[in-house]
Amino acid sequence: MIRVQVPATTANLGPGFDCLGMALKLYNTVEMDETSAGLTIEVHGDGAASIPRDESNIVYKAAHKVFQHVNYNPAGLKIRLTNRVPVCRGLGSSAAAIVGGIVAANILSGGKLSKDKLLALANEMEGHPDNVAPALLGGIIAATAAEGEVRYLYIAPPAGLKTVVAVPDFQLSTKRAREVLPGQVPLQDAVFNVGRTALLVTALCQGDLSKLNYAMEDRLHQSYRASLVPGMKKVLAAARLAGARGVVLSGAGPTLIAFADENFDLIAKVMRDTFRENGIMAKVMVLEPSPVGARAVERM
Ligand code: HSE
Repeated sequence: MIRVQVPATTANLGPGFDCLGMALKLYNTVEMDETSAGLTIEVHGDGAASIPRDESNIVYKAAHKVFQHVNYNPAGLKIRLTNRVPVCRGLGSSAAAIVGGIVAANILSGGKLSKDKLLALANEMEGHPDNVAPALLGGIIAATAAEGEVRYLYIAPPAGLKTVVAVPDFQLSTKRAREVLPGQVPLQDAVFNVGRTALLVTALCQGDLSKLNYAMEDRLHQSYRASLVPGMKKVLAAARLAGARGVVLSGAGPTLIAFADENFDLIAKVMRDTFRENGIMAKVMVLEPSPVGARAVERM
C-alpha cells in the first residue's frame, strides 16, 4: 500500500495570476493499493459526502492518466482519501487530488515518470500550474507552461513568514470565479501586475517582507471577484490594519489569506469578525509554508 501526503496550496499570491503559488502545512493523504478486481474508493474528512466514489473521482482519473502513460494495468484498485484541505475554497483541493493521485500511481507502477513529467500531466488536468506545481514540489513556485511543459523555479519560503487563512463557509468553483474575469484588460493594469509580480518574486527570494504590502497588489482578477465574496475588501483592509504584510484572495477564492511575520492571532480574529459582520461565517487557521510537496510517507 502506498501512502502519499500532499499539501494545500495558495495560488496567485496577489498579482501572479496563474503563475505563482505556495504550498501550506495542511495535508491530504491518498492511500492506494492494487487489488484483484474492481475499484473501491473510501473518503474521509472535509467534503467527504460530496466526493464521488466511482471512475469520475479526480484522484482516480489522475491515477488512470499515469497508468495509461506507462502502460500499467492494475487488476483492481483501492483508494482511500483523508482530506483536510477544504473543498472548493481556494486552497488547492483539486490540485491536491490530482497531484496525490498522480504521485501515488507513479509509485505503484514502479516510479517510471520524472517529477517534470508528473507536473506536465497534472498541469494538463488542472489547466494552469500555480496550484499543482507547489502541491507537487513544495515551497513557493514560479511556473509557466511553454511548449507542452511546465517551466518552473523553486523559491524557499522566507524565514518567519506564516499565513492566516479565513475560509468562508461556502464553496466557490474556480470555473465560476473565472467566468467573471474579462477577456481583455487595459495595458496599464497589465503593467501594474507585471511590476508587482517582479517586485514580489524578488522580495520573496531576498526574504524582504517589508515590500509585500505593495508587491501583493493586483488588478487582473481580485476586484472582478470581489462581488463573489461578501465583505472581501473590508476583511482585506482589517487584516492589513492588524499588521499583515500582504493580504489577498487565495487562488480563485473565496478564502482570503494574510501573509505576516507577527500578530497572527489578532489578524485571525479581525478576519473572522469582519467576515461575520458581513454575514459570512469563516474558519480561521494559521498555516506555515510547506517547504516540501507531495511525498510518500509510508510504504507497507
Ligand atoms: N490562478 C487560478 C485562478 C487559481 O485564479 O483562477 C485557481 O485555481
